[in-house]
Amino acid sequence: MIKAKLSNIGKDIYTVISELVQDTNIINLAKISPDIPCSDKLTELAIKYIKEKSVEYSHPDGLLELREAIAEDIERKHGLNFSPLNEITITAGATQAMYTAISSFVSEGDEVVIFEPAFNSYIPAIESNGGRPVFVQRKLPDYHIDWEAVQKVINTRTKVIIVNTPHNPTGAVFNEEDIAQLRKITNGTKINVISDEVFEHIVFEGQKHYSVLSNQQLAERSVVISSFGITFNVPGWKMGYCVGSEKVMSQIRKNQLFQVNTVNTPLQYALAEYLKDGVNYTLTNKQFEQKRDFVNHILKDSRFEILPSKGTFYQLLNYSKISDEKDTEFARRIMDDYGVALFPLSVFYHDSIDNKMLGFSFARAEEVLSKAAKQLAKI
Ligand SMILES: Cc1ncc(COP(=O)(O)O)c(C=O)c1O
Repeated sequence: MIKAKLSNIGKDIYTVISELVQDTNIINLAKISPDIPCSDKLTELAIKYIKEKSVEYSHPDGLLELREAIAEDIERKHGLNFSPLNEITITAGATQAMYTAISSFVSEGDEVVIFEPAFNSYIPAIESNGGRPVFVQRKLPDYHIDWEAVQKVINTRTKVIIVNTPHNPTGAVFNEEDIAQLRKITNGTKINVISDEVFEHIVFEGQKHYSVLSNQQLAERSVVISSFGITFNVPGWKMGYCVGSEKVMSQIRKNQLFQVNTVNTPLQYALAEYLKDGVNYTLTNKQFEQKRDFVNHILKDSRFEILPSKGTFYQLLNYSKISDEKDTEFARRIMDDYGVALFPLSVFYHDSIDNKMLGFSFARAEEVLSKAAKQLAKI
């Protein structure tokens, strides 16, 4: 008999909502960025290189020009030096980078600490590699990490801690103290850290993004995952990369070689040329901060409680003053009666914890945000 792997995994929430709203007028605020354009320069470069470079496979570690451009970008952003030869690998998006990193570190019976609510790809990737997710809940109201609780679950079986900052979907961001605590907890252990930093360029109110790379000791045991899809608003390209010490990266590259082998060549050329002259990330940041403020200004007269969103393009709303329905049911009712699709936060907890929270993406055009927020304000 075939033993099905991941037999308890169904469709993810974004697919469920997309299928429900198909061919309706419902505004889907669960989906990311369908109406924010990407740079003309980048798409023109993609077209150019699709014509010129489509018949080549690139190097399994990624096109060297792109790895070099990323190394320079990291140097400009963080003042840190990573070798394009040994410490940077190009991937088919952050999801693949995450799977490859997990499969490089995790074997049967290993424990992996994850913080909930958690992005939906982590648990299946851990379980399909025989690992056991160990859950630590982020703490309300700002969804910070309780490092004492983390310390309590660490033991000799702990192989990996997965962190995500800025955090999807709560908008929480790490500060200096979080980095210090993570360093302290992992110091003297064999634990690897996988840090999902796909929203590194979207941090609000002049705050800084604290990468695990910023601490020398942490950087040595960590791999940081980035997404060109999120950063340049080309999620459909499924392009990303990971950065880590040579020791960590050599492990990852063994799996990369057979999981994906090589990544889309023309798009790597396009991204290399685009990155080469430096990118002004502040503009993206400002654009999303304005959108957050725009939509929240309309929502401030609603009965929802608006939670702080300090980064990413996600906003959470607490509805406990409006209803005691389950979040999945309330989200469904809002969709049917008010024509706006939001995601229920309980789907990002393994045991469906319901704190009466709904969330949405504000990576949308202002007309769409305005229309949706005015509908939500009627509830
Ligand atoms: C936290 C987080 N990690 C990973 C990803 C996946 O990125 P990619 O589309 O590059 O696979 C996303 C996409 O939204 C995300 O929000």
